[in-house]
Parts: sequence; C-alpha cells; structure tokens
Amino acid sequence: MDPLSRRKMLKAGGALGALGALGVAAPAQAQSLWTWSPSGSVAGAGAGVDPRWVWDEEADPLVASLLDRGDVPMVNQLLRGWTKNGQPLPAGLPADVHQFIERARVLPSWVDQGKLATAVQFNEKRGLYLGVLYGLASGMMSTVIPKEARAVYYSKGGADMKDRISKTAKLGYDIGTANAYQPDGSMIVTAVKTRLAHAGVRHLLPQSREWTDVAPEDIPISQRDLMVTWHSLPTTVMRKLNAWHVPIPARDSAAFLHLWQVAAHMLGIKDEYIPSSWSEANAQADQILDPVLAPTPEGIALADILLSLGKEIDAGLLSKPILGSFTRFMLGNQIANWLQIPRDLLWDSLLRSFWGPFIAVREALLPLPLAPECYWLFDEFLRKLALLFLSEGQSINIEIPVGNRDF
Ligand code: HEM
Repeated sequence: MDPLSRRKMLKAGGALGALGALGVAAPAQAQSLWTWSPSGSVAGAGAGVDPRWVWDEEADPLVASLLDRGDVPMVNQLLRGWTKNGQPLPAGLPADVHQFIERARVLPSWVDQGKLATAVQFNEKRGLYLGVLYGLASGMMSTVIPKEARAVYYSKGGADMKDRISKTAKLGYDIGTANAYQPDGSMIVTAVKTRLAHAGVRHLLPQSREWTDVAPEDIPISQRDLMVTWHSLPTTVMRKLNAWHVPIPARDSAAFLHLWQVAAHMLGIKDEYIPSSWSEANAQADQILDPVLAPTPEGIALADILLSLGKEIDAGLLSKPILGSFTRFMLGNQIANWLQIPRDLLWDSLLRSFWGPFIAVREALLPLPLAPECYWLFDEFLRKLALLFLSEGQSINIEIPVGNRDF
C-alpha cells in the first residue's frame, strides 16, 4: 500500500475510533455542501468556490519561506515593537515581510467609519455580556469545532493554554476598544499578526505526526474553517443576545457586525466569504457551523484545561463548577455533556433563575444618566483584570510559531 493511502486509512481509523469511544455518530463529522452564494457577501460577487479549498495565497508562501530560511525568531522579535495600527514598521524587517504587512494593514475600501463609531457605543453598553459570551460561549464552542480543537491541541500553543488564551483574549479586548481600527488602536496589528501565526500553523502542522494521524484535512485553517470560527464569535454572540431578549437597535447590531466584517478581512478572509448582513451570516452559520459541532478527545482535553484556569486562585473548587455551569447555560446540555462537564445543582439552577433578571435590571438601568459610562468603567476593570491574570502580568505578543507541540 502506498504511504498516502496508508495515512488516509490511519486517519479514518483514528477518527472513527475516537468517535466510537465517545459514542458519537460519524455523520456529525461530515462537512456540509457549500451552497452559500457570494452575492450575499460584502464583495457582492465572487467565484463561489468552496472555501474549504482556499487558504491564504499571500501569507502562506511568505511564512513558509521565513520558516525555511530560519528568519522567524528575528521577525517575531522585531514585530514585538509594532503595537499600534498607525505606527511605522520596525526597521530591519526582511523586505518581503515589510511589503506584505504594508499591504495587509490597509483597511478594506468598504470600511464604514460611522458604523465603527456606533460599534464603540454598543461595546460600551454591552461590554459585560460581550466579555462573558466571547469567553464562555465562543471560547468553549471552539473546543467542539473538531478541526480547530485538533489544530490547537497539536500546535505549540496547545501545550500552554493559559498563554494561548491570553493571546486570543487580547484580540477580544482590542476589537472592543474605542480606537480598535484607528491609528492609535491595536486591532489591525493583532489581526495581521494572527494572520501570520495562522500561516505558520498551515506550514507546521502537516509536519506533526500526531496531527496528521487524526486530522481529515491535509492543510489546516482553510478559509471555510476561518469562517466557522468567525461564526462562533459574532454570530453566536448575537444569537445569544437575541435569545436573552437584550434589546438591540438594528443600527447597533449592524455596527457590531461591521466590526467583525472588518476583522475577517484583516485576518485574510476573502471578501466573497464575509456575510454582508445578519441574515446572510445566519444562513452561512446554519450551513457551516451548526453541522460540524462535535466532541473530540482533543476538544474534551482542551475544555477541561480551560475550565481549570482558575485553579491557581481557588484550587478549582469554586471557579471550575461556576465556569462549567456557565458553559452549560450558554451552550446547552448537549455540548456540556459532550465536554463531560458535570452538572452542578447549585450553579446550574442559580444561573437559570437569576441570569434573566440580572440582564433585565441592567437593561432597565441603562437609560439613566452616566449608566453606559459606569458600565464601561466596571466592565473595563474586569476585562483588564482577566487579561492581567491570563498574561501573568507579561506583555502579550502574538507570534509566528516555529514548531509544533512536543509529545
Ligand atoms: C492562533 C484567533 C481561526 C487555529 C491564533 C491567535 C489568535 C487567533 C488571536 C494567536 C494566538 C497564539 O498565537 O496562540 C483566531 C480567530 C479566528 C481563528 C479570530 C477566526 C475568526 C482559527 C481556526 C483554526 C485556528 C479556524 C484551526 C482550524 C489556530 C492555531 C493557532 C492560532 C493552531 C496557533 C497556536 C499556537 O501554536 O500558538 N488564532 N483564530 N484558528 N489559531 Fe486561530
């Protein structure tokens, strides 16, 4: 048997074996057909190619070449000094990296500064919900997105989840700041560095035996995978806010969508795959997010690490059951059971009984003078505290990985 077919068999066996052990039906892993039309995208038109077969034609060869020629540590070191959107790039970067970043840092022609300004007000009023949802709905959902869970588990970052989460939390923080895409903000820098990190993962993970043995794809982080994860962020957040009956004017919800449309573009996602409206986003998510959610041994392990992050503070006695109950409350029983999160009588029932009234009171007080500002200050304090804990007081640098996780 040729090595390729053997590898495919191993992969099929490995994946099916793992699913069998979890008692999950194989179809949960199936990829749905791509029928979403580019006419519903911010580009308004496109070739309509299934983004499963599209990666990043600019960043991938560049980073592959940097890895091959051993320049990544030097580039990472220099890029530590690039922190603000409007800042000139550090001197000494290789010419190809400099040229790539100069192109990649340009905002799309369709950026709407008015919508970005409205999004600032939205973040100000709803920052607490956004923080909780990014962390516990989107973050925990990533562990039941099989391709993402495996990529994270077998990449370098999988060995130190606290560090990895601090970097992802930085993106969640930067996108919520008032100047996210302005010259003195940091979201463009964060998105472009993430784009480079993803390109590194595409080159490195296929060299990991552990990853190739279980992953159904040959190259990770396709544009389709990027959109799946994107939907675990703004689409899932908006679905939850609607389910909690948080009253959001159409103008605010369009602004929040825009914030994330720009993020998708800056992460290297082609405009023809970025939904132009919430109805298009929901239609795309119905097709590509909901059907792929499934447990994997890697995702279960990652979820356990995430829920145990508070153990340095309280040995996990209080934080773990609370985070577990929040996950169950946000994502439902099926996902919580997949992740083997035990039920907690006290916290499960407290959340069920009091989260609705808590939101109702917060919303009722919102029209009071200075309420949005007070909420923002309080929420900002919590966000900063979370980042400080996750980063252990160190500065957070998103970098191109130079290797995979050691086993
Ligand atoms: C790295 C965000 C999609 C797998 C990162 C980082 C961020 C990030 C901020 C830097 C953190 C770090 O260096 O550890 C995002 C966003 C996405 C997205 C916003 C979509 C909108 C995906 C997808 C996959 C993936 C779809 C896999 C299928 C990874 C991996 C790393 C990474 C493996 C590197 C971890 C490491 O070794 O350090 N991502 N990501 N990401 N991402 Fe993503």
